[in-house]
Amino acid sequence: MDKQSLLNLIVDNMKEGIHVVDTNGKTLLYNKVMADVEGMDPDEVLNRQLLEVLPSLEGNSTLLKVLKTGKAITMNYQTYFNKDGKKITTLNSTWPIKRDKEIIGAVEIAKDISNIEKMIDSLLYSINYTDNNNKNYSNKTASYTFDDILGQSPEILNAKQIGYLASKTDSPVLIIGESGTGKELFAQSIHNASSRKNKPFIAENCAAIPENLLEGLLFGTSKGAFTGAINRSGLLEQAHGGTLLLDEINSMPLDLQAKFLRVLQESKFRPIGSTKEIKVDIRVISITSKDPIKLVKEGKLREDLFFRLSVVNIYLPPLRNRQGDIEILKNHFIKTFEEKFNKKIAGIDDEVEEFFKTYTWPGNIRELEHILEGVFNIIQENETIKMEHLPYYVKRDYSNYRNNEYVNPDKSIFSLDLMKRKDLTLNEYLNSIEEELIIEALKLNDYNITKTAQYLGIKRQGLQYKLKKMSLQKPTI
Ligand SMILES: Nc1ncnc2c1ncn2[C@@H]1O[C@H](COP(=O)(O)OP(=O)(O)OP(=O)(O)O)[C@@H](O)[C@H]1O
Ligand SMILES: [Mg+2]
Repeated sequence: MDKQSLLNLIVDNMKEGIHVVDTNGKTLLYNKVMADVEGMDPDEVLNRQLLEVLPSLEGNSTLLKVLKTGKAITMNYQTYFNKDGKKITTLNSTWPIKRDKEIIGAVEIAKDISNIEKMIDSLLYSINYTDNNNKNYSNKTASYTFDDILGQSPEILNAKQIGYLASKTDSPVLIIGESGTGKELFAQSIHNASSRKNKPFIAENCAAIPENLLEGLLFGTSKGAFTGAINRSGLLEQAHGGTLLLDEINSMPLDLQAKFLRVLQESKFRPIGSTKEIKVDIRVISITSKDPIKLVKEGKLREDLFFRLSVVNIYLPPLRNRQGDIEILKNHFIKTFEEKFNKKIAGIDDEVEEFFKTYTWPGNIRELEHILEGVFNIIQENETIKMEHLPYYVKRDYSNYRNNEYVNPDKSIFSLDLMKRKDLTLNEYLNSIEEELIIEALKLNDYNITKTAQYLGIKRQGLQYKLKKMSLQKPTI
């Protein structure tokens, strides 16, 4: 193996992203990790001038800065949302490459620390912290109410209406929406509008906890369950009388989903290692940022659990589809940050206004909030918000857009199924899917009502009621 192939092998198998440019800013090395982190294709970048590929980096690129100054920039922390709305946090360091005393290039190493960030978030979450709206965030209290949910679009008003009505019942609620659309806000608001508001609100993100610990966390353990086990009450018990919020429900392992379904059906459970059953009265709200129908089809969410959890559905549409709300939220965050940073700004220039309208907002409202917070860090008193104040990844999108390379496929995670949805309302659509699933289940179980009901994890009477409502009959052939 020659030296070059060996180097390529190493670079392609590194866990860090690496980007090397020569003195002219031409890319010599750009590995797959870096490409993934930056959402680029290595072939687009390799052997080309950096500013030619990413013109928006002009004046911003750390690689070019280091080439110019000869000084390293280390531990540069960057957070952004990739095209799929995934929040990515990287830690970048950039060094000059010198031969003798002459600078011959620069190298940037980026480490994707998104998982570490997530862990820190969930730690902070369990400790307590105050967010930008001065609301106390912890997994044991609910601070938000429906009044905090801003927006005048029919979609958000409809979602609030459903949420409010559901807060008066004990039925399970499933909240569906892309990252940063306000799912947690809705869950807290439902709890706070309900008769359970003075009882516990316990939230757990099923994706933040290693699979093997989640069961113990939910059910609790009893002395003797395993060596060293102590009596520890689980979240189910802690939420008694109140609301249990399960975030990213599809990250719950399938066998635990089955166990959890039984708890929902029987309102009782047995802590691990215990012989005694505990009765609980909890209202369950669950959250998913993926299309639940797709999750069911892919076998990641048990169908029976899905039906049980989604008695009431709240769908939060992406921000890009609610232009009027962008305006309202933007003004709200500007006001909040003017107070927080004690800085009055003169306004927003037309180019930024225009950009806000065309941008896809993969990280939705949270992204808008973060971007404006970033702006307030660097903007001067009485200055107007301009494109240069926006983060680099946003400007990159914008320059692609101006070069007509920008495609806005509106890559909503729900787009596929929404196509099939035609002009049905969410409830009509979900009913039609429910009907399809019931028919499939009936076929599978030879039209035996008891078996089908068991299969779907619902009561026999419940199935009969649904069949009557849907006027479904056993085929005569
Ligand atoms: N309708 C809204 N009005 C005002 N602020 C909102 C609204 N929706 C979301 N936000 C803001 O956006 C932030 C993110 O909201 P939230 O945590 O509820 O999102 P999420 O849907 O749970 O996101 P993720 O899937 O990433 O967990 C909140 O801190 C809140 O400040
Ligand atoms: Mg959330």
